[in-house]
Order: sequence, then structure tokens, then C-alpha cells
Amino acid sequence: KHNLKGDDFHAHEEFFLSLPKEKAWGIPIYLYQHFWYRLDFLPSIISFLKHFQPKHDDVFITSFPKSGTTWLKALAFATMKRSCFIPSQDNHPLLHSNPHTLVPFIDLEFYNDPNNVNPDLSIFSEPRLFATHIPFPSLSSPILNSNCKIIYICRNPFDSFISYWHFYNNISSRKGTLEEAFERYCEGIHPFGPFWNHHLGYWKASKEKPNKVLFLKYEDLKENPNFELKRMAHFLDCPFSEEEENSGVIDSIIELCSFGKMKKLEANNSGKTMLKIDHKHFFRKGESGDWVNYISPDMAEKLFKVMEEKYSRSGLSF
Ligand code: A3P
Repeated sequence: KHNLKGDDFHAHEEFFLSLPKEKAWGIPIYLYQHFWYRLDFLPSIISFLKHFQPKHDDVFITSFPKSGTTWLKALAFATMKRSCFIPSQDNHPLLHSNPHTLVPFIDLEFYNDPNNVNPDLSIFSEPRLFATHIPFPSLSSPILNSNCKIIYICRNPFDSFISYWHFYNNISSRKGTLEEAFERYCEGIHPFGPFWNHHLGYWKASKEKPNKVLFLKYEDLKENPNFELKRMAHFLDCPFSEEEENSGVIDSIIELCSFGKMKKLEANNSGKTMLKIDHKHFFRKGESGDWVNYISPDMAEKLFKVMEEKYSRSGLSF
């Protein structure tokens, strides 16, 4: 029904403003193709979906916000580019650049100029590595039909919520309480939400097309990074050789991308992303289960019920 022909917000203001609207996290959000978006992100997302042409070996890091995207960007970059950049060496790009600089949010950062719908992507060496929060059902046919691969990182919805709460506190002068935001979250009304449909879209795709979509969990990566990294490298058609494994390449990547290491780096404590967010805000606590310090048992019960209902029979659990 909502078929947008152009990319410029101003030229299509009427279209955007006709979308169903709600308020969450103190800002208006709009329903586009069954997911909620900030208005300022929609033109870039739509332009990207319309104009981006994938290459056969592109890799997409995908996620619902605050699920460990930064971590996965770093792990995927270090793994895929290990023949050019040795993970244990002092000159590794991840020691000097923030993961969001090395692996950009391609839609939000490169398709945000309505006067340039074909941005210069030649700066990216192949295989190219990009990221997006776009839900699976909205991805464009060229992306779905090409050979490019998609890695999704999923995190316990409680922890993503609390992570977002802190992040949003840092980056905006939001009004509203944690309780209000939580209510809306349980209703699925929040940027890139409902979170369960975001998770389930990629989950189902990973089951149907395991060579196309790899579904990782933040908690599994924390618990068994070695195993998960090997899964990822195998999926990316660049498995670790026995020699690499024995010489500690996997361990070097895990260490290079570890929360403790990354949080301390100058590159992650200074500077901003292209969306003008301080790099430091992407590194808070890096733990699983921190939500219990913020969400009361009564509130938790509500979200547990939502999760029980939404994930039932999907095979996805937390
Ligand atoms: P917390 O706020 O719970 O600490 P995203 O990258 O999708 O924006 O997610 C941010 C969350 O991932 C934050 O969670 C952040 O601390 C955590 N994170 C960032 N880098 C990490 C790393 N290298 N290892 C583990 N967690 C990391």
C-alpha cells in the first residue's frame, strides 16, 4: 500500500506523515512495512533498499539495536580480513579504528543524501562488510537473491532493552521513564520493533536458508566464543585451518575483540560515528543478565509473558 517512488523526505513528506504514528522513547516513530522507525532514518533506509546493488561476496551484519552489533562487526572484520591484517599485530585496524568506522551502517550512513542515491562505495575493499538494522522481511530482492551472506546477532530482549535505555540516556535528552519505555517495548512499539518479529524474521530465514543467513546469539558468543567464531568462519567460507587454530589465530581474534580490550582503546573512547554518536557509548558493561538490576519482578513477568507467547513454537528461546 505504501509504495514510495522517491527518496527525498521533503518530496514525500505527505507519504511519511501518513504512516501510522506512535511515541516511544520520547520521540515519534512510524510504522513502515510492519516495523517502527524514527522518521529521520526512513528516507535513508528506503533509498538504500531501492538503490543498493550488492556484490556476490558482500557480507551483512544485521541486528536489532543493542544486541552486540559492535562486537559482531569487530569479530567479522577480524575474521574475514585476517589474511591482510594479522589479528595479533599492533597495526591491526581494530586497534586504531572503531568497529563502526570499519563496518558502517550502510543504509543510514551512505544513503542519507537524497541528491546522491549512488554513493561511492569504492573505498570498501572486497569482500565488503556492511551493517544494517533493517528487518529481514524488508530486505531488498537484490540482497536476498544474490549470493551475499547475512549474519544476525540476537540478544536476550531484556538485556537489549536495558542496553538501549542507557544508550538512549547518553545520546539524547529523552523525556519519560524507564517504566513507560518498558511498557511500549512490551507492546512492540520501539525503533526497529517489534523486537520479536525482528528476531523471528532472521531466525526463520536462518532455518530455511542456512547458507545465506547465520543466526548468532550474544549469550552464546559470551559463553563459547571459540565455537561460535569457528561457526562464523565456516559460514563465511573462510574456515580456520588446523594450523591457524593451533597457532592461536582464533584466540587472538577473540582477545582483539573482547569487551575489556575494546573498551580501553583510544579509538573507542574518542571520536564519533557518521551519525554523530560518541564511540564510547557503544561500550557499557558487556554482560549478560544486567537487566535484573533495573527491571522489577512484576515488570519482568510482563515481558516474560510476551516472549512466551511470541516465541512459542518458533524454536527460538532465551
Ligand atoms: P551493554 O549496554 O549491556 O553493556 P550494539 O553494539 O548492538 O549497539 O550493542 C551494544 C551492547 O554490546 C552494549 O551492551 C555494549 O556494552 C556491548 N558490547 C560492545 N562491545 C562488546 C564486546 N566487544 N563484547 C561484548 N559486548 C560488547
